Amino acid sequence: MRGRHSKIEVRNGTLVKKFYPQFRYNFWKELKFLSTLQPFSFVPRLYGSDPFRLEINMEYIRGVNIGDVISSIGSEELVEIMDACRTLDRLSIQKEEMNHPDRHIIIGNRIVLVDFERGVIRDRPSNLTQFLTYLNFKRKIMPKDDLISMMKSYKRNFSERAYIQIRDEVLRRID
Ligand SMILES: Nc1ncnc2c1ncn2[C@@H]1O[C@H](COP(=O)(O)OP(=O)(O)OP(=O)(O)O)[C@@H](O)[C@H]1O
Ligand SMILES: [Mg+2]
Repeated sequence: MRGRHSKIEVRNGTLVKKFYPQFRYNFWKELKFLSTLQPFSFVPRLYGSDPFRLEINMEYIRGVNIGDVISSIGSEELVEIMDACRTLDRLSIQKEEMNHPDRHIIIGNRIVLVDFERGVIRDRPSNLTQFLTYLNFKRKIMPKDDLISMMKSYKRNFSERAYIQIRDEVLRRID
């Protein structure tokens, strides 16, 4: 497989992401964020890295891309994804591109987010709000203005209470 920034290979059942030389800084960013996030199950296990070859060896995740199942995923999966976004928000890690995560959220035995090379540290990260914007665009869960006003109150102080409110509202409206 070939991404825009790397070549992806499967070796002995594991995945090797080899960055093109012009993207060496992306290699370091991906390694940093994957390392930081190892305590959480929503990233691939990290097996090793080679800074000379610009390679990162990680768990190969079997599953389907969210883009292929977004119209039918259920509340259990949605909670897992929203919780992952919330965790990233709390850690001030902005993954980037969560408003079009079609090939970067894999749904298998568990939910896994891949591709952290664009990650940045942000005071007011938008992982959850971007994902919900994507979800609402695809599923028309609620009127746009309702979502915007809930997201505004979430982004005011990123409180747990505002998060739970927005999460429960999404769940209530999908079924
Ligand atoms: N750990 C993994 N397990 C399974 N599939 C993966 C894994 N990492 C990446 N992939 C698959 O390979 C594709 C390309 O990976 P990735 O996005 O990390 O590469 P990239 O060079 O950054 O590409 P892009 O230009 O799309 O950002 C992903 O969309 C995903 O489908
Ligand atoms: Mg990428």
